[in-house]
Order: sequence, then C-alpha cells, then structure tokens
Amino acid sequence: MTSQMELPPRPTLFDFHGVSMTRYFTDNWDNIQHFEARPDDILIATYPKAGTTWVSYILDLLYFGDTVSNSRSSVPLHEKIPFLEICVPHRPTGKDLADQLPTSPRLIKTHLPVQFVPKSFWEQRSRIVYVARNAKDSAVSYFHFGRMNHIQPEPGEWSCFLQNFMQEKMVFGSWYQHVTAWWEKKQTYSNIHYMFYEDLIEDSRKEINRLCSFLGLSPTAQQREHVRSKVTFETMKENKITNYSTVPTMNHSVCPFMRKGTVGDWKNHFTVSQNEQFDEDYKNKMKNTALFFRTEI
Ligand code: A3P
Repeated sequence: MTSQMELPPRPTLFDFHGVSMTRYFTDNWDNIQHFEARPDDILIATYPKAGTTWVSYILDLLYFGDTVSNSRSSVPLHEKIPFLEICVPHRPTGKDLADQLPTSPRLIKTHLPVQFVPKSFWEQRSRIVYVARNAKDSAVSYFHFGRMNHIQPEPGEWSCFLQNFMQEKMVFGSWYQHVTAWWEKKQTYSNIHYMFYEDLIEDSRKEINRLCSFLGLSPTAQQREHVRSKVTFETMKENKITNYSTVPTMNHSVCPFMRKGTVGDWKNHFTVSQNEQFDEDYKNKMKNTALFFRTEI
C-alpha cells in the first residue's frame, strides 16, 4: 500500500474552455491536442463511470485474447489501454503510454467531451466506441469513485455532490452535455458505435455481437462465450487486471472500484425529494434530444 505522502494532492475544479476540469486532465493539454491517431485505433469514450472498464476489457479480449502464452494478458488494463488525457505527477502520461503502444490496433480510453477529442481521430476516421449510462446511476457511481480515488476532488456529502452533478460541476463537465453531444456527433460520423450500460447488463451476448459487427470481428461462438464468462462483474472484481487494485491513488478499503455493477442503485441513494428535483431538472436539460435512458431494467 502506498503511503499517504506519495499520494498526489486532491485537485480542485476549474473552468476549462467551458467545461469543469482538473489539472490531472488538462496539464498535458497541448501534447494531447497533437496526438497522432491512426486509422486502426479504437477509442473507447465515455462520461466517467459509464462502464468504461467493462467495455475496455471486452475489447481487449476480443482483439488480443487471454491465453497464458500471451504476455499482454497479465498487464493491468489501465496500462495496456492508456487513458489519453491523464497526467499525474511521477507517472507516465496517458499520451506517452498511448504513443508507445506496440499493438495494432491500439485501444485508447478517454473521458473527453466530444469537442475536446484530438482532431486526428476524426481525420484518420478511427473507430470509436461510446458507452453511456443513465444519469442517476452515473452520479451515484461517480460519488463513490470520488471517495476512493485521490485524483478526484473531494466529493463531500451525497446531497452536495448531487447538486454539483445537476449544476454540471463535475470533472469532465456536464453528464447531460457529454452524452448528448456524443450522440449528435454519431449522426454525422459513422464510425461511432454508441452503446448503453443498461443494455450490456440486460443482454451481454447481444451487445458483444453488436460490438463485433461494428468492429468487423468474427470470433467463434466459443470465443464469444469465453469473453462473456471473463467479463462478468464477479469475475472482473476478483481479477487484478481489471479491478484497479494496483493503482496507488485508489483506496479500495473506502470503496472498491468494482462496487455494485447494477442498474438502479440510485434508489438506495436518492431521497424522494431529490428524485423529484432531479427528474424535473432532467426533463428540462434533455428536452431536445431523442436519447432515452433506462433507470431500471
Ligand atoms: P458501480 O460504481 O455502479 O458499481 P468506469 O469503468 O467507467 O469507471 O465504470 C465503473 C462502473 O462500472 C462501476 O459501477 C463498476 O462496478 C461498473 N462495472 C465495471 N465492470 C462491470 C461489469 N463487468 N459488470 C457490471 N458493471 C461493471
């Protein structure tokens, strides 16, 4: 366990070109803007807590498998699928890790709002898998993540955190703008596969099949079933490759990264009046989009 002394200080939010961000995702900004994407890169884009790790591991297994002879299979996911914009003192930046990836394709993760994505991804027509999760469960998951991860701002009390979520004062900005702007981008850029956490919970076989079609992959039925068996919540929670237990900034005794993995945990957090206020505000913010999220299944 890393001592407290080695932990980076909790960051504060500031306005960055109209989006709430922290230094750990903006300090390397100029370099990120010049990132050289390749046509075969796969960008995994999400608002935080939408199931990024889950979909990342599915893609990793689909492309590279997990046989013992495969040295990649013992490398933690956050090392082999770099987080493009991350820049934390004394650790390699996400961009450096991405630049050095030896694989083809390269799998790269981002939480950037669509307007911040380096232009080379669009120019190269790289494929992008966007995962979205309903706002209420995203807020709950983000709250607990802030409690356990030192590179997030202090989340404070739940009631205060929820108000900040509604006021769009979160790292990576507004959930509402993130999911809708990526959805709009998909209407004009055909290389985005937009998927939902709730669908993956409901029918992972179907969602993995859809991912394979989008990526032009044709694993055998047996390979697909193997992937499904490796990406259940329980299996990923026990797996050091996927449970972030080796990340020094995360304190899993406060809350494990692999926390609940369900749809509808918001019901255990929202009071009746918080829920009414949230729904009213949500209707207003989302009135111009065709996007629909399930909050229970
Ligand atoms: P909870 O906090 O609700 O449990 P991200 O990877 O984008 O940070 O998302 C993390 C969320 O996805 C967490 O949600 C985590 O438990 C959930 N998750 C990760 N792997 C999962 C899996 N295999 N099945 C279901 N949920 C999963």
